[in-house]
Amino acid sequence: MSANAQALKNHKLDAQAMQGYLKERKIDFMLEGIKVSGERAARVVGNMLSFSNRQGMERTTCKLDEVADDALALASTDYDLTRSYDFKTIQIIRDYQKEMPMVLCVRSDIEQVVLNLVMNAAQAIGSTIRDVAAPRIVVRLRHDDDHALLEVEDNGPGMTALNMHRVFEPFFTTKEPGEGTGLGLSVSYFIVTKNHGGTMSVRSKLGEGTCFSVQLPVGGGVKE
Ligand SMILES: Nc1ncnc2c1ncn2[C@@H]1O[C@H](COP(=O)(O)OP(=O)(O)OP(=O)(O)O)[C@@H](O)[C@H]1O
Ligand SMILES: [Mg+2]
Repeated sequence: MSANAQALKNHKLDAQAMQGYLKERKIDFMLEGIKVSGERAARVVGNMLSFSNRQGMERTTCKLDEVADDALALASTDYDLTRSYDFKTIQIIRDYQKEMPMVLCVRSDIEQVVLNLVMNAAQAIGSTIRDVAAPRIVVRLRHDDDHALLEVEDNGPGMTALNMHRVFEPFFTTKEPGEGTGLGLSVSYFIVTKNHGGTMSVRSKLGEGTCFSVQLPVGGGVKE
């Protein structure tokens, strides 16, 4: 006899009546809510821990094209991403200016920033009706004497002006509970502006798409 059946028998309970009671009192619904909230809390804590672990990590001189390529490779194998839709159906355009300068940075942090942006772009595209014009993400790299610029642009649904003003707020999300913690962009903003002396901004048009820009100072005067 299963443990459940034994427990029901011990307490002289009927399985069907028990289920009816749980349903009527919406206890099954509440348990599911607790489970989803627990998973969400675990993701929030996980995000924060992985962020705090990265504090004080070593800075090295990196090429943004290599960092961007690594983030794109990670994105294409990301379980969550490939689960919600097929990342391979999105055209990835690498529009890299030649001879990007070296940037002094915590490589894994900047890779995380690019990954967050690419994941958001892919999720935004995935949230739209699939027969929309060819989905694409452009990863653009540019530089001048003092700065390296990285942009991630998508042709997803875009966002309202109101949302655009809130995207860098911690915990701001439009995703379902359990799907998004609303920390990706706030953590990215912190990494870029506070830890790397850079700037981060967004422009977006409803129905047309979104473009996030990250500007980093060229580090240590090291040029290729
Ligand atoms: N490329 C984009 N297109 C449209 N909306 C976007 C885009 N990127 C971000 N957003 C909006 O900004 C919100 C915040 O993004 P953020 O990455 O901080 O959190 P999230 O993606 O919701 O959750 P997670 O913590 O898993 O990253 C998103 O919920 C979405 O509404
Ligand atoms: Mg995100």
